[in-house]
Amino acid sequence: MRSGPEAKFAVPRLTAAVLHIGRDVVPAFAGTTLAGACLRANDGVAVESHMAKSSLSFVCQNCGAAYNRWQGKCEACGEWNTLSEEEGATSVPVSIRSKRKGRQFALESLSGKSQDAPRLSSGMTELDRVTGGGFVRGSVLLVGGDPGIGKSTLLTQATSMLARAGHRAVYISGEEAIAQVRLRAERLGLADAPVQLAAETSVEDIVSTLSEGAVPRLIVIDSIQTMWTDTVESAPGTVTQVRASAQALIRFAKKSGAAIILVGHVTKDGQIAGPRVVEHMVDAVLSFEGEGSQQFRILRAVKNRFGPTDEIGVFEMTGLGLREVSNPSELFLSERDLGTPGTAVFAGIEGTRPVLVELQALVAPTSLGTPRRAVVGWDPSRLSMVLAVLEAHCGVKLSGHDVYLNVAGGLRIQEPAADLAAAAALVSSLVNAQLPTDAVYFGEVSLSGVVRPVAQTAARLKEAAKLGFGRAVLPESARGEAGDAGLALNPIGGLTTLVAEIAARGTPRGNRESSRDATVVEKNATPARFRRENG
Ligand code: TYD
Ligand code: MG
Repeated sequence: MRSGPEAKFAVPRLTAAVLHIGRDVVPAFAGTTLAGACLRANDGVAVESHMAKSSLSFVCQNCGAAYNRWQGKCEACGEWNTLSEEEGATSVPVSIRSKRKGRQFALESLSGKSQDAPRLSSGMTELDRVTGGGFVRGSVLLVGGDPGIGKSTLLTQATSMLARAGHRAVYISGEEAIAQVRLRAERLGLADAPVQLAAETSVEDIVSTLSEGAVPRLIVIDSIQTMWTDTVESAPGTVTQVRASAQALIRFAKKSGAAIILVGHVTKDGQIAGPRVVEHMVDAVLSFEGEGSQQFRILRAVKNRFGPTDEIGVFEMTGLGLREVSNPSELFLSERDLGTPGTAVFAGIEGTRPVLVELQALVAPTSLGTPRRAVVGWDPSRLSMVLAVLEAHCGVKLSGHDVYLNVAGGLRIQEPAADLAAAAALVSSLVNAQLPTDAVYFGEVSLSGVVRPVAQTAARLKEAAKLGFGRAVLPESARGEAGDAGLALNPIGGLTTLVAEIAARGTPRGNRESSRDATVVEKNATPARFRRENG
């Protein structure tokens, strides 16, 4: 029993209740107090109560696992200090005991016709490329990204385009006041677009408002962390609230056929804040990335039920909002350090599109016992692998050097094809030899030091030729696929050959360092094992 405001209703605190609203049964989760239930009752709702144990629960804010007592570490995801107390977290639906007879529904055939085009183009080519051709009816998309990266800007632009094309587009902001959203639209030159705007955070209010009139074609919820639903008691932003709000919105999308975009915040380690479970519930997860100091923004699909996940959309943040970049290579190479040792141009592929980008390496003698290895924009374990291969097979000694590798422009490369370009940049920096400025590099390096072929050789070469490059360093075995790209080809069978070629261009750095450099790459870069065996 509980005293306080609820006591005057003379009914025990409800820890579980079933609310009947019309024909639908909505489970009120454990922990719902009578005060809440009575509010509903005033709206013409019948309340059924079951006595159950009070269920205060501790929920991991990282993965959503629930515990009945506090502990330092979450057993489910292994994170420390992520458990926080939430009321009504264990949402055991009691409605199972409902005596309502199930509603009958019609079963359909697979070949049925949908009345409408299932996809709607956003009017922004780069955005459509990532979603796989536009927003799918009834789908829910999660857009994650650091604060200030431009999520609201991107979605304001997308909703305005759709609204101008005559579709009903709704923008619900839970973070900014209407005046702030308007100010942004004005700045973007989109103030005249007939977007329907609201600053709301209650999911029930949003769903009931949007159920009126024509079904909106696109609804933006900015952001899911600010939304709350009164079916659960936790504070907005907690795992339970975020999950329940997302569930309610997803239900609405599926039922109405509107496409919904949820904006999600990202924690400092790059996860979408709150529950990972939201990622599993939605149809697609897009991540909006970029270095704060740089103008480039990259939209990437992390998950997509209706399209590819390897495409990227490239944008540039300007004073007038996000500008689409249809030729990213030009952008990534626009501020090249021509004539500096340690830079190599990698001919990469992002999805279906070739992208040329500069890799920058710095190899410097270390003053530490354990040399530093730092990498931005590439996989650190692939860097370690390339360094090990250079050391083991090519006679390049790096154990006394700090190594830094950076992908210019804030791009994040995931292809193993960047191995060769990374190796070229590293050796170039080590021996202080400038690489030819008109050369591109691509190829995967195996643990034995062999340069292996990679996919889409012709597309990479074509892009390089288009941007004015004169030669390509590529795997020997890929020569057959090269065709006539209009570039001079320099096929490489093993990493040793590359190291020897670069070392031959080297110039000593100065008196103090010259003796050191001479010993760093041993004569003719003979493989270590060969030297041992042959004296
Ligand atoms: P915003 O879309 O509010 O970011 P998010 O919603 O991801 O937090 O974008 C904020 C940043 O974008 C802000 O630092 C200013 C910059 N910006 C521009 O450079 N140009 C513009 O036209 C707009 C609207 C924003
Ligand atoms: Mg925002």
